[in-house]
Amino acid sequence: MEELLHKDFLEKDDLVRLLSLQGDDMKRLLARALEVKLKYLDNKVHLRGLIEYSNICRKYCLYCGVRSLNDKVHRYVLTDEEVLDCAQQAMDLHYGSIAIQSGERSDKAFTDKITELVRAIKKLSDGKLGITLSLGEQSEEVYREWFEAGAHRYLLRIEASNEELYYRIHPHDERHDFQQRLSCIDTLLKLGYQTGTGVMIGLPFQTVEDLADDLLFFRRKNVAMVGMGPFIPHQETPLYAYADQIPSAQDRMNMTLKMIAVLRLMMPEINMVAATADQTLDPMGREKAIMAGANVIMPNLTPNSHREDYLIYPDKACVGDKPEECSSCLDIRMRAIQHEILYDAWGDSLAFTKSH
Ligand code: 5AD
Ligand code: FES
Repeated sequence: MEELLHKDFLEKDDLVRLLSLQGDDMKRLLARALEVKLKYLDNKVHLRGLIEYSNICRKYCLYCGVRSLNDKVHRYVLTDEEVLDCAQQAMDLHYGSIAIQSGERSDKAFTDKITELVRAIKKLSDGKLGITLSLGEQSEEVYREWFEAGAHRYLLRIEASNEELYYRIHPHDERHDFQQRLSCIDTLLKLGYQTGTGVMIGLPFQTVEDLADDLLFFRRKNVAMVGMGPFIPHQETPLYAYADQIPSAQDRMNMTLKMIAVLRLMMPEINMVAATADQTLDPMGREKAIMAGANVIMPNLTPNSHREDYLIYPDKACVGDKPEECSSCLDIRMRAIQHEILYDAWGDSLAFTKSH
């Protein structure tokens, strides 16, 4: 066990063993990951103020509450003014970075609008706010245009790196194409974005071997950032039919923590987010993720009136909290676990900074 926790290069068998640990052995893994994080990085937590720009989406992924086929969702797009207010709020709260997330659209009106907003946010913050985009699959030209406008990080989760599993949680059609998604990730890496990907944990049909392969995928792609969180079944989606066949909430939470911990051993210098979904399953979920090796949190800045419409999964945390409440809440919560929030900084991934 100790040998495994100190091994230089973990192979697939090692990963499966580590992901299968329970009880005190699991605790030892999490403690080792924290030790590695503190050694290679520090106890700083980076913030990305999250702006949920729009829930209009051309896709209908089988797990997602805002899928286009869910007609119970009230669709919205934030106005330019609302987006700029969010950015200003990020500045006022000393968040060094924001992340703009949205349902996927690829029409020119949308992609042009994003370019315009990225430029406007750069200007408003005098270049001080880091900008992460999470706007799905786009053409190389669009990714380039946004990069040139000033976005420097991009998140595109692969969701499941096993193609077969991918098609069990997505429709199999031209809008949900595994190879296309892979090639988008490659394009983002090529263009020079700090690129992040990730998966959901505790999906129906998912095995521990799949999860080990997900970790190998992150290492093979040499990504700068990873976001992983537990799957939470949403009633208005097809995968809800399997809600009684997935691991319990506690098991999904523990598996998420083990995934974070093992990845921290494998890629000590990447940025890893403690997902909001962690807090939905466990009131202390984000703290636990930070203690297992994560170093980024994405507090929500979306105007409260729209948050109810961005329920990708049910019971999302903080939906009723004002941005300034989340800010002070997080500060206290991180101090309670001997971590410190890094304000007024982009918080780039050390893995990326060193290799560029
Ligand atoms: N449970 C957990 N995470 C989900 N996501 C989408 N639907 C769910 C769900 N039901 C995640 C996906 C997506 C991110 C924005 O949210 O991984 O990339
Ligand atoms: Fe939102 Fe604590 S982070 S209330």
